[in-house]
Amino acid sequence: MKRKLLGTLLSVTMAVSLLAGCGSNGGSTPAANNNAGGNDAAPANTEAAAEPAAPAEAEAPAATAGGSKIGISMPTQSLERWNRDGAYLNDQFKAAGYETILTFSDNDSGRQVNDIQNMLADGVDLLIVAAIDGEALNTAMNEAADANVPVISYDRLILNDAVSYYVSFDNYTVGKLQGEFIVDQLDLENAGDSVYNLEITAGDPADNNAGYFYHGAIDVLNPYIESGTLNVVSDQIDFDTVATAQWNTDTALERAQNILSSYYADGTQLDVWLCSNDSTALGVAQAITSDYAGSNSVLITGQDGDEANLKNIVDGIQTMTVYKNVSNEAVVTLSLAQAIINGDTVDASLTDSFDIDCAYDTESYETSAGNKCPSFLLVPNVITKDNLQDLVDTGLYTMGEDGYLSATN
Ligand code: BGC
Repeated sequence: MKRKLLGTLLSVTMAVSLLAGCGSNGGSTPAANNNAGGNDAAPANTEAAAEPAAPAEAEAPAATAGGSKIGISMPTQSLERWNRDGAYLNDQFKAAGYETILTFSDNDSGRQVNDIQNMLADGVDLLIVAAIDGEALNTAMNEAADANVPVISYDRLILNDAVSYYVSFDNYTVGKLQGEFIVDQLDLENAGDSVYNLEITAGDPADNNAGYFYHGAIDVLNPYIESGTLNVVSDQIDFDTVATAQWNTDTALERAQNILSSYYADGTQLDVWLCSNDSTALGVAQAITSDYAGSNSVLITGQDGDEANLKNIVDGIQTMTVYKNVSNEAVVTLSLAQAIINGDTVDASLTDSFDIDCAYDTESYETSAGNKCPSFLLVPNVITKDNLQDLVDTGLYTMGEDGYLSATN
């Protein structure tokens, strides 16, 4: 009886929450605001490798979690961070008393649709989805809406109005930090007549985040490109030209090799390579190590804090990464999910329930033209060789005697 009542309450409150979210069903359009836009089989209820050592935890975990089932759909295990996201989410929801289903879809959108459909068939009460392609999940999203299952778009925005809320980092700021880092390191404001040669590698056009990262950086660098202080020798600047399908390391490596052999084999000095994230930076760094004729060290940016990239930072091969604490992203997602399931009002006050720097933003992201998606956006940080200890201090990395960092999950 009690269970049935709770079930009824859940479906009513979820319907209300859905209405309070991004809006009714609709098509997909690019997000507005800031400009542009292995086998992954994972058993359901995967046991995560380690306890989350999050520096911050949601207060008052789920008194009413009983019986609720959460579907967690991650894009792939082939890109390092999603393994961590999957494990943190799975661990934290389980610790709060929820039943979970965790899947990785091998960077295959069709498979992600299937995985989500299976979760709906399994009777999940709420979905957390990091999309492979923000425009390719309409079938699954519309089915979620029909079943009154709220959807939290996790990290990457899904362009469908079935999405109730968005949890991510401030994606535009990620790119802005990379651009500002380049300006500071090269002291571009005082460059005088000096010219620095730059190349650019961006992310996957199917990922709604990729345009934000790119534009965040390019908006900072553009004045210097226009004045000639920064010179893109290959002339490959626009997003579509510099994008990397599926954020693939080998794709980034190949393109970098082509650029180096076409434009730098004559001894032209390369000063900086803007890379939107660590998986692409890894390929670019590999190309520079093997194929660059010059002897100067090239400034390379990144994002995430992947282990191989942190090693490259220690070794002076990569210069920086924009770090995003995905354990905290999971904490925010858990608090939000609890509020949705409990039928609590979701607004800026939710950010009082965790000790994490996070903005409630109702303007920046749209799931379709004019349809704003309430978003919780965490704050990214710059990591260089000089502040690697900050990562260790989160408890999410340890430093070995060799000075290299390993993630604890
Ligand atoms: C994430 C980045 C990540 C990239 C590739 C993006 O959506 O925000 O953190 O580097 O996907 O996995």
